[in-house]
Amino acid sequence: MCGITGYIGERSAVPIVVDQLRRLEYRGYDSAGVAALSNGVNVMKTEGKLKILEQLVDGAFPESQVAIAHTRWATHGRPSVPNAHPHGDDSGKIVVCHNGIIENYLELRDWLQEQGHVFKSETDTEVLPHLVEEYFEGDLEAAFRQALSKVRGSYAVALASSHAPDQLMVARQDSPLVIGLGEGEYFIASDIPAVLPYTRDVLVLEDGDLAVIRRDGVTLTNLDGSPVERQTLHVTWDAAAAEKGGYAHFMRKEIYDQPATIRDTIRGRIIDGHVDMPDLGLHEDKVRALNRIYVVACGTAYHAGLVAGQTWERRLRIPVVVDLASEFRYRDPVIDERTLVVLVSQSGETADTLAALRDAKRHGARTLGIVNVVGSTLAREADSALYTQAGPEICVASTKAYISQLTAVYLLGLYLARLRGTLTPEAEAPIVEALQRLPDQVAALLQKEDEVVKIADAFMDCHDFFFLGRGMDYAVAQEGALKLKEISYRHSEALAAGEMKHGTLALVTGDVCAICIATQEHLREKLASNIKEVKARDARVLAIARESDPDIHKYSDWAIRVPDSLDELMPVLAIVPLQLLAYYVARNAGCEIDQPRNLAKSVTVE
Ligand code: F6R
Repeated sequence: MCGITGYIGERSAVPIVVDQLRRLEYRGYDSAGVAALSNGVNVMKTEGKLKILEQLVDGAFPESQVAIAHTRWATHGRPSVPNAHPHGDDSGKIVVCHNGIIENYLELRDWLQEQGHVFKSETDTEVLPHLVEEYFEGDLEAAFRQALSKVRGSYAVALASSHAPDQLMVARQDSPLVIGLGEGEYFIASDIPAVLPYTRDVLVLEDGDLAVIRRDGVTLTNLDGSPVERQTLHVTWDAAAAEKGGYAHFMRKEIYDQPATIRDTIRGRIIDGHVDMPDLGLHEDKVRALNRIYVVACGTAYHAGLVAGQTWERRLRIPVVVDLASEFRYRDPVIDERTLVVLVSQSGETADTLAALRDAKRHGARTLGIVNVVGSTLAREADSALYTQAGPEICVASTKAYISQLTAVYLLGLYLARLRGTLTPEAEAPIVEALQRLPDQVAALLQKEDEVVKIADAFMDCHDFFFLGRGMDYAVAQEGALKLKEISYRHSEALAAGEMKHGTLALVTGDVCAICIATQEHLREKLASNIKEVKARDARVLAIARESDPDIHKYSDWAIRVPDSLDELMPVLAIVPLQLLAYYVARNAGCEIDQPRNLAKSVTVE
């Protein structure tokens, strides 16, 4: 997804905004550009990677202390230099970087063309500088406000202009934007990691906020011009936490972060052997009165939701429906004030998930976000937020955020069950103990990386992978298949193992690899039959099984053993070798692991 950065202060602005862009690379992009103010507006843009932009701008700009920059992920108009941001007006005095979508841009563009404006790109964004130019009568801020009042859709926007060379302006509607607060200098960014090397004090803009930023301060108002106040967020993450820390790729680093991630997610939430999360504001009477729970999310977060669906329904004894946010928001689900809607999201900015949240709120449901990014829209708009404490996740493919979501799912399930009275303290104690053992078990599992390396080598000639499982293992199969396909580009699909014989078995030949997740004790024999079905059709079989499984090696070609835990907690252990497998297949294939093609870290448009 696109990234915006900006700087105003005493230092040389261009290297700073480009460095900030680098820290947003994980969001994915296809082109990039910079605009700097000094005796007018200078703009440089390029297709492709930031390396090219860095070479272009090196020494090419006059010295400047005010700049904005952008990485673009195409939505309207293909990736190209004219479509890259910043976009300018006809006079060349106003430039804008924008994230989001301006829904009425075609009608605005027609109108502006009638007024004589000439457009150079196919983007929706370009209407913004032209609108500001159209309304400018000596007061840039007033023109910016008027322009935004004509726009329908979502935006985080940064504007620089030689009409007012001592200031930057930003505004936000449905797309994240923060201002890093320095000493006589300010840093604009779409996401907090981009300001961390410079400051830990951050203003998180809310929808409808407009800020005018000068070297001596920030003036914050709403679109009508009334002053608003936002609290300064002091970010405690170490900037180094967002760096690779010696690993070749963020993905492998983040896989190795997972024992700590589980510990961090649990920390402070288990008191005297029981889960306690009073900060969620969930009251016993309301939880007892719940008639149904929806768990709504996208992608990997949805796969964590699938685990929630199984474990919560069994423990809470009420229907728990798990849905993709992009489906939920359009299917008019049955919701009332006795419904709890849980939204799961790493970024807290996924457009479909936010739309589902708002829909659920409109219908009177209580909403709860399981979310990683503090200050994100989901965290702010849901009735309560359960933070997953994974820290910044940089690799586009989610690993540690998924593990932290699973951990949060277990904690919340136990807490809700206790509030509902469906879980006794005696029954809770062994589950809590098993949960607390997970970090060490994951650390032990990571020691088996060499086994995975060998299996990945053996799989390099395979282009069709089927991930099979039952129950919780089916949820893990879906996440394992997604990891492999998104970073290695190999065809992989997940199936409930019992479904194979209803069609997909027709595809199974000696060219196929079957990855069979076999960790659920109560389904062991059923899954064994399914493994034998694919083995009989010559598929190569890798099983992910418990250390205690007595005979998995008899009917699989390879088996990776994972530590024993409760059936419901096994997804945390089973996913680790699958993450590593995806990583090594992708690495062997020479793929760009941290930034897979066509994908973005934070999908803030529909
Ligand atoms: C896959 C992946 C995506 C995200 C999805 C939702 O590895 O990361 O499928 O899980 O785009 O993103 P969030 O969790 O930010 O809502």
